[in-house]
Amino acid sequence: MATILVTGGAGYVGSVCCSQLLDRGHKVVVVDDLSTGHAGAVPHGAVLRRLSISDRDALAEVLTADRFDAVFHFAAKALIPESVANPGAFFDSNVASSIALLEAVRAAGIRRFVFSSSAAVYGNPQSASIDEDDPKDPVNSYGETKLMLERILRWYTSAYGWTVAAFRYFNACGATTTVGEDHRPETHIIPLLLQTATGERDFFEICGHDYPTPDGTCLRDYVHVVDIAQAHLLALSVLERPGMSVYNIGTGTSHSVRQVCRVVEQVVGATLRVREAGRRPGDPAILCASPQRLMRELGWRPKSSDLHSIVRSAWEWKQRHPRGYEADQASLTISSAH
Ligand SMILES: NC(=O)c1ccc[n+]([C@@H]2O[C@H](COP(=O)([O-])OP(=O)(O)OC[C@H]3O[C@@H](n4cnc5c(N)ncnc54)[C@H](O)[C@@H]3O)[C@@H](O)[C@H]2O)c1
Repeated sequence: MATILVTGGAGYVGSVCCSQLLDRGHKVVVVDDLSTGHAGAVPHGAVLRRLSISDRDALAEVLTADRFDAVFHFAAKALIPESVANPGAFFDSNVASSIALLEAVRAAGIRRFVFSSSAAVYGNPQSASIDEDDPKDPVNSYGETKLMLERILRWYTSAYGWTVAAFRYFNACGATTTVGEDHRPETHIIPLLLQTATGERDFFEICGHDYPTPDGTCLRDYVHVVDIAQAHLLALSVLERPGMSVYNIGTGTSHSVRQVCRVVEQVVGATLRVREAGRRPGDPAILCASPQRLMRELGWRPKSSDLHSIVRSAWEWKQRHPRGYEADQASLTISSAH
């Protein structure tokens, strides 16, 4: 059994990872400022400390209260349009605050670190199947912050003998029976389509229908959040030697926006109101991972990532939590580090 500090464990991907860690008997302490996360998303059995990763003193207190075996770092600002409009806030949150975290982790003598990076580091890809060594040329400050932290982590690895895994997620989606996606504002396609199905939205907007793809809409690689969590667990058990490893997490298969719309319609059993709109700046036509390195080196397989299963799981979660986590907050005890 290991003891893991999970930053951003009240967010979408982090909370699913916490629940998988707990299921396997690990001890989990979550550090989250609840800026975009929800106390109700933190699984029962995890301790939630409400604080920012930029608060070095509070972090030091948390890190010395337990003997941590590893840190899983999910906490970040992650809304791409906001990162284009307000890059300073992204460098502050995703880089400066992360350095405060790295320093606190170093001071506590912890040497295993797993970082949530992103396919956004690649920018407009030059290949239809992106591998980890392809050029990195982010087209928004969000991707730039992820690339910068990867680079910073390389220096920590060589100077302090850390074992680091950086995972570049493609499109995280889907839900478990207890944990699902509740971003505010929501910008991800599947929750937006499900909100259209329930009438919370009047229509779903397809942004760009003249891309050089078979049906004119963007192609993306959708990977179930449980499969993402699984990669983190494999990193914990497989990666032992000091050094930095970087992996894509995607399935190697892409689906167009129209295909996703059709699958959502099949799952919810209704026709959705869809409108065509112009392209969004910075949206590449195709983003699809080569997951070969992750499969070869960590033995990872995408077990839950067929599109129907993803959408079904998200729809089931939505039906159980029609107002997201809103209603679940009251029942939680939150401890503050101060
Ligand atoms: N969701 C995706 O499709 C996707 C794709 C690629 C990469 N990622 C990365 O995965 C990670 C998790 O993404 P998500 O979709 O779960 O986002 P999310 O917004 O749901 O979760 C982020 C969590 O971090 C917390 N947080 C933010 N800043 C903090 C700070 N300074 N101190 C403490 N806590 C803070 C938020 O409150 C939230 O709970 C992020 O690093 C994101 O960049 C996500």
